[in-house]
Order: sequence, then C-alpha cells, then structure tokens
Amino acid sequence: MELPYSEPYKIKMVEAIKTSTRKEREKWIKDAKYNLFMLPSEYVFIDLITDSGTGSMSDRQWSAMMLGDESYAGASSFYNLKNMVEKLFGFKHFLPTHQGRAAENVLFSALIREGDVIPGNSHFDTTKGHIEYRKAHAIDCTIAEANDTQLEIPFKGNVDPEKLDKVIAQYGKERVPFVCLTITNNTAGGQPVSMENIKATSKVCKKHGVPLLFDSARFAENAYFIKMREEGYGDKTIKEIVHEMYKYADMMTISAKKDGVVNIGGFCAMHDADLYRKASTFNIMFEGFLTYGGMSGRDMNALAVGLDENTEFAQLDARIRQVEYLGKKLDEYGIPYQRPAGGHAIFIDAKKVLPNVPKEEFTAQTLCIELYLESGVRGVEIGAMLADRDPDTRENRYPALELTRLAIPRRVYTDRHMDVVAAALKNIYDRRETITRGYKITHEAPIMRHFTVELEKA
Ligand code: F0G
Repeated sequence: MELPYSEPYKIKMVEAIKTSTRKEREKWIKDAKYNLFMLPSEYVFIDLITDSGTGSMSDRQWSAMMLGDESYAGASSFYNLKNMVEKLFGFKHFLPTHQGRAAENVLFSALIREGDVIPGNSHFDTTKGHIEYRKAHAIDCTIAEANDTQLEIPFKGNVDPEKLDKVIAQYGKERVPFVCLTITNNTAGGQPVSMENIKATSKVCKKHGVPLLFDSARFAENAYFIKMREEGYGDKTIKEIVHEMYKYADMMTISAKKDGVVNIGGFCAMHDADLYRKASTFNIMFEGFLTYGGMSGRDMNALAVGLDENTEFAQLDARIRQVEYLGKKLDEYGIPYQRPAGGHAIFIDAKKVLPNVPKEEFTAQTLCIELYLESGVRGVEIGAMLADRDPDTRENRYPALELTRLAIPRRVYTDRHMDVVAAALKNIYDRRETITRGYKITHEAPIMRHFTVELEKA
C-alpha cells in the first residue's frame, strides 16, 4: 500500500500546555471583555488565533541564531538575508523591518498620498489600516466567487482583472500608486492566486502604467497551490515557481512571521532604486539603520534559513495537508467552512454554524467565544468586528462573510490537536438552535478596533 504522508522532521523540544474547566474559562473570557486578544495565553489550550510568529523554528534556524552578527552597520546577517531575498524573489533592494505592517508603513510612506486608491484582493487589516490612515482608500477587486463559501474552485483568492481594470480607469493612474496583490489571500480564506491570475493582474497594471506590489506573507503556500493545482507546474520546484511569480512584481512587502517561519521580522523589497532611496529614509526613521531595520542580526540569520527551508516541497506539503486534515474532520461532522481548505487556516462559515445570531451581534465573534468556552481553543474573528466602521460614514461595515478563522501555526500542533478542535466545533454545531444571542460593543478604538474592543453579552 502507498505510505501516508508524514512530517519531514522529528520533535526535539516540547512545551507544556494547560487544560482548564468550562467554569474557569467563563470567568476568564468575561474578564477579557469577551475579546480573545485580551486572554493571557496560559488560559488557552490550543491557540489558533494566528499562524503569525507562532511557528517552531528548526535546529538549523536556532544554530543560525548563534551566528548572528549584531553589528550596527553592515552585519553579515544582513547580507545573508539580502542574498536569500535576491535569490528567491529577484529583488536587488531590500529593507528589513520588524514585521509586515512595518514594511507597509515604510513603503507606503514613500508611495501613498491623501485621496489615492489602492485596488487589490482583500487587503489584510493592517494593510487597509496603513492605507486608510493616510486618507487613501483600499478597493477590493477579489473575484465574486470568493464570497460563496461552498463553491469549490482552485484559486479562490484571485483578483477579478476586469474589476481591477475598471477601478484604475475610473480613478486614473495618478491616483493609483500601486496595485496590491495578497498571496495567499488571507481574508478570503487563505485562498491562493493562480499564476495565470498573477499574469492577468500584471497585464492590467502594465496597461495603465501602475506598479504591482505583492503582499507576500504566505507566498510559499501560494506557490505550493500553483504546483498542485495549476496545469504545467506539477514538475517545477517551489523555488522555481516563486521565482516565476515574482517576475511579475515590482515590489513586495512581507510579514516573515508566516512563511519565513520566524517569530519576528519582515521586509520590503523593490527593483526601483529611486523608490528604495525614498523608502530608506522612512526605514531609518521608523525602524532602524538600513542593514538591520527592525531586526537583530540573529533574527535576520534565522529568517534567511527559514525562507530557504520553507520553500522546500516536503515542508509545505505536511503543513498544508494538516490544514486539509482538519477540513476533512469538519466534513465528517457537516460543519461548513470556506472551501476548499486554505493554506494556513480553516475559515468556519459562522452564519451557517450559528444561524440564529444576528450579524449586528457579531456572529463570527460569538462563535469564537463559544469555541473557547467549549474547549479552550482560541480562534479569531474575520467578520464585522474586523471590517470596522466606514472611515467616512462611521457606520458599521457588514462583510458578506462572517468567518471564524482557525489559523494553524507551522510545526506546532499534531493531528490529534486537530481532532479536539473538530470535536469542539461539532458540539457547538449540534446545539446551534439554542444559541440565539451574540455580543455588543461597550468600547472601541477609532481604527483597528478588533484588537482592543470590549464587549458584553447582548
Ligand atoms: N499581510 C498579510 C496578508 C497578513 O496576513 C499580515 C498579518 C500582514 C500583512 C501584517 O503582518 O502581522 O507581521 O505586521 N497577519 C497576521 C494574521 C497577523 O493573523 O493573519 P504583521
């Protein structure tokens, strides 16, 4: 018989996690004002709040840490990372930052002016935040199919090139400093963008003379899906596919905390020397000198190794198959989620799991809280709370989807942990008719409210 897949590594160190009782969790979540970001992690059993900065580094990464060069200027660690960035993505210029949003801050400071519009596919919340903070607008041109959670198509993260073309034509090149392509498309469910769509997006950009930026947090997972799902890529290596993808990008921002498999770090990179010079000033102002930015030497070293390792097929195969494993368990129990399973997470369709909780009472947030109470599993809301208020009208925005995201850290949990998550969801799903009320806001920040929002039972 064919042998099943398994992880291409063994475990050298473990970290204890604590179980708790429902009664304890009821108190803890109330004390946290029903905001899971406010829960101390020791009160969490299986933490699926994010796959960002939560992965396990390899022995090679840890040994690279010991060789970190902490020189202020010209550290060898900087050159290790610079060489890897050029080798993988083809960019000559790069600026290290402390994480993805810092790369956005640095690069957008050089690019965005008030009144601009930045079209793309489901901008991530910090990306949108950095756009809106500059009094510019993010316009979502994701394909309409992404909103149908039950529709099974291979590249649900794609941009609609016609929509994109119309938006650029409407505002004109002068008001569109760049197009932002998020790979994989996190908000739409960790869904990939096809090579064909990358090419089509690039074509629209070229037609209008607008540069193309890749928001690259999960670029390697995207390349994996291209290899597995797109014709003509089955025999290519992940590194070859990444190289081809980035031929179409003029610049990139990246949160290295995802596919770089490090606990902190990011960078922006570009071809244009003038843009590099402009962005350099902001890097020095907000992050640090050019050859370390927001990172220590050891962190840059670990990232250089992480990027190399995590663009190998076996790593990605085990990782993405674990996400799929959780999806299959949910299929067994009939629990609806954004199909097909994403690269880094399962996105539960909260409106279908809790049909009686009105969207005004934050359906997906309610499911996150129920899941925590049931099992100590921490997910995160991707719904009306995250969508925040319209910056002009200050009205709540209600996105088409209310999702509870279960993001799986890389190389951290076993399939047995996934069984616990699925069983907890099943218990909630079985009593869905009895859950009729959600939560209301008692305090919120003017921007990116979901991190610090305070809630009470509606
Ligand atoms: N872009 C995407 C697509 C992201 O998913 C994230 C972070 C960022 C940019 C910002 O990067 O956190 O390093 O500053 N996503 C995390 C998440 C937080 O949970 O999905 P950062």
